[in-house]
Amino acid sequence: MSVLVTGGAGYIGSHTCVELLNEGYEVVVVDNLSNSSKISLDRVEKLTNKKLKFYEVDLLNKEGLRDVFKKEKIDSVIHFAALKAVGESVKEPLKYYHNNIAGTLVLCEVMKEFNVKNIVFSSSATVYGDPKIIPITEECEKGEITNPYGQTKAMMEQILIDINKADKDFSVVLLRYFNPVGAHESGEIGEDPKGIPNNLMPYISQVAVGKLKSLSVFGNDYNTKDGTGVRDYIHVVDLSIGHIKALKKLERERGVFIYNLGTGVGYSVLDMIKAFERASNTKINYEFKERRGGDIACCYADPSKAQRELNFKAIRDLNKMCEDTWRWQTKNPNGYEK
Ligand code: NAD
Ligand code: UD1
Repeated sequence: MSVLVTGGAGYIGSHTCVELLNEGYEVVVVDNLSNSSKISLDRVEKLTNKKLKFYEVDLLNKEGLRDVFKKEKIDSVIHFAALKAVGESVKEPLKYYHNNIAGTLVLCEVMKEFNVKNIVFSSSATVYGDPKIIPITEECEKGEITNPYGQTKAMMEQILIDINKADKDFSVVLLRYFNPVGAHESGEIGEDPKGIPNNLMPYISQVAVGKLKSLSVFGNDYNTKDGTGVRDYIHVVDLSIGHIKALKKLERERGVFIYNLGTGVGYSVLDMIKAFERASNTKINYEFKERRGGDIACCYADPSKAQRELNFKAIRDLNKMCEDTWRWQTKNPNGYEK
């Protein structure tokens, strides 16, 4: 079985390529390297001792994508390629709508042309907005989304659902990730944010390694156990394994399937700081600051549907998430750049 991985050079994509190759899938990566480095894929090959195919192609380049489908026999697609910086999406909405939505449309058109009917899609818990019920089940209605990035995720979900309505054989798994963190335990691949990180875990690890001075903790007056925001952090290797389980679901069944990928456990920002200090044996400087616009107090998954229907359970705990992030950070203080 051959899987096209769009955005496969990126953070979650590269980890998923490792799991796919280890499972015996053939892997074809399409990435324009706008937010990643080809070195991640070299390392994927080194870690697995297997080869993958890489095409530096932008999803918006329909002819380029058609060439890939002509050359390679694709059975299924895992679609990671997207822009993902929430703050940037507020400043540059057109860039986000164009890249994420048009990219997905072109991909689906080419899939249709080449009769490829399985897609696993990277969605996000952001589609729930500020959830009415916690833990969040897949039945929770989509909420009010405060930024264009999140809107693109909700729209892309709808596009895929509508394609299935018109062609029942076109089958889709929508994976709503909670907060992916951590790195491969080898420390060879991990998250390599460009510039100052927006997300908590890479920010903490850059403070720990001395690249950044101090973490701003956004808000300490939320209605949570210690006043700081609570999230469901999931190890990126567990998350990647979730994609293999999703592919296998599409090998058994046709339809549209929606799953939360989280652990079901919520940790606060202060929990994360303490856990990282323990795992890295460092001290994290932090200061309390104003709440960040668009943030919610608390968000964690009910992960039981994925467990029931995909036989998926995240098993790597918070200590492992921190240890693996730290190993990646210390081995690669400047990410993939030497
Ligand atoms: P990433 O930026 O590391 O990976 C995305 C990859 O897509 C990059 O390698 C980038 O170069 C590529 N890409 C972007 N636009 C492209 C285009 N037009 N054509 C070809 N390649 C393109 O991000 P990630 O953290 O690995 O996220 C992967 C997916 O998961 C994204 O869709 C993201 O929105 C989604 N997601 C991520 C998180 C998270 O916290 N990391 C949470 C929820 C959902
Ligand atoms: C953010 C995005 C979400 C996206 C997800 C993954 C926003 C509003 N939400 O989720 O749409 O799907 O990333 O890319 O941006 N925090 C700090 N200091 C920091 C960074 C974060 O205190 O420097 C806090 C936040 O307030 C939050 C928690 O840490 O309580 C997690 O933040 P983050 O890692 O950015 O993820 P989310 O906000 O959950």
